[in-house]
Amino acid sequence: THVAVLMGGWSAEREVSLSSGKGCAEALRRAGYRVSEIDAGHDLPAVLQELRPDVVFNALHGEWGEDGCVQGVLEILELPYTHSGVLASSLAMDKEMAKHIFRAAGLPVTDSVVVTRAEAAKGHVMDTPYVIKPVNQGSSVGVHIVRQGENRPPAELSSEKWDLGELVMVERYIPGRELTCAVMGEEMFDVTEIVANTAFYDYEAKYKAGGSDHILPAPIEADIYAHVQAVTKAAHEALGCRGVSRADFRFDETKGVKGVVLLEVNTQPGMTPTSLVPELAARAGYSYEDLVSWMVEDASC
Ligand code: DAL
Ligand code: MG
Repeated sequence: THVAVLMGGWSAEREVSLSSGKGCAEALRRAGYRVSEIDAGHDLPAVLQELRPDVVFNALHGEWGEDGCVQGVLEILELPYTHSGVLASSLAMDKEMAKHIFRAAGLPVTDSVVVTRAEAAKGHVMDTPYVIKPVNQGSSVGVHIVRQGENRPPAELSSEKWDLGELVMVERYIPGRELTCAVMGEEMFDVTEIVANTAFYDYEAKYKAGGSDHILPAPIEADIYAHVQAVTKAAHEALGCRGVSRADFRFDETKGVKGVVLLEVNTQPGMTPTSLVPELAARAGYSYEDLVSWMVEDASC
């Protein structure tokens, strides 16, 4: 089987994707697949049309690669591809649209409003503490917490250099702990607690070795654990995801099971050396090679 691994691209998560993609390509080779590595550019449709691989392994993150655009190209080319399809990808990538779906499905989300970055830059969008995040980015790029009693949205928001979209989501900050869980087809993975060694689980904490500690299984009560897994599965299904997805949570333990809040679903979860899904898969008995092989066998269009 000839697998083309798409990586890189031109989103803010380009470097993360190159790391995910290299890891996946090497593992697929070890698993016996014939592998082409493609740094996705605007000529991607022509490159794939020429190559005609049996399967496209999508290791792109962020805009164009994770938001349904590339998935649409692959549909048109009739090339089977890994992870979610067009609609689920685009719904999951837009944090506001995903929240509408989660609310309709009765899943626990926190209050938020979407405003222009100019409005967010003025401050006082909601009572502190709150979080400002671009509506359609990943890896915590452009995310800021405005702490209790502060009214200092980051200057970055009003900078001419801002290229993370004109709309931002302002979301109530949930105090407490950070949890994540993933699903692989019909199979539920365990729950990880993330302890960031920075002010929050930001880009540096995510990708610098030692930037965060991952505690697996998360040391939380059994009912909370089961609830996080159930919400992960329900969120995957509500968006219509396929293959592997990872859901991120905040957990305010003073509120018990009601303190579990779903932040988002990642349809192209990171596969880097510090990423969470490979660890969750390993705990379920799947090596990194097993995981990427499963993704290839699960691919469709
Ligand atoms: N957006 C990064 C890649 C993740 O969710 O893992
Ligand atoms: Mg994300």
